[in-house]
Amino acid sequence: MIYFVTSNKGKFVEAAAIFGDLVQKDIGYTEIQADTLEEVASFGMNEVAARLKGPVMLEDAGLFVEALQGFPGVYSAYVQKTIGNAGILRLMQGVENRRAYFKSVIAYVDADGEPVMFSGVVHGQIGFEARGSKGFGYDPIFYVGDLSLGEMEITEKNRISHRAKSMTALKGWLASR
Ligand code: IMP
Repeated sequence: MIYFVTSNKGKFVEAAAIFGDLVQKDIGYTEIQADTLEEVASFGMNEVAARLKGPVMLEDAGLFVEALQGFPGVYSAYVQKTIGNAGILRLMQGVENRRAYFKSVIAYVDADGEPVMFSGVVHGQIGFEARGSKGFGYDPIFYVGDLSLGEMEITEKNRISHRAKSMTALKGWLASR
């Protein structure tokens, strides 16, 4: 059993499809303002590990849009809450380069071990419209091939996603110990 500290049900469902024995813990932690997802995850993990004993992981993720110099990046949660997908589509009006990627950084620690981190990236395109209601967050405006992530079933998203990559890396690392 592993605890996954998150308030995001969408993240949890995707992660649970990769790790059978996962328990969601919605206990909150400080998300510092920093330049990288790694710093945010690492700071959060130090706080969480002091409060929760047992194998535990957390994740910090973000959307990085090439034409916007990586925005919203580490500010993805705030931007999603404020201008949302419609705001990103507006910022991208008339922009030809639609390339973007999602990155997931997970931090994991055993009851008494050192924290470890794994990351995963998926490359895609910001679409011209939001499509699909299956995922969460930026999924409806992020396209891989002809489909937005919002149009994909969890099993399809988990074949390609940033989160599936970081979590599969952790799973492999755990299995190899
Ligand atoms: P955080 O990792 O919870 O800080 O997520 C940052 C922001 O990116 C939130 O608004 C999430 O909804 C969004 N986000 C994270 N992962 C995904 C994803 O897989 N698809 C779409 N949006 C995501």
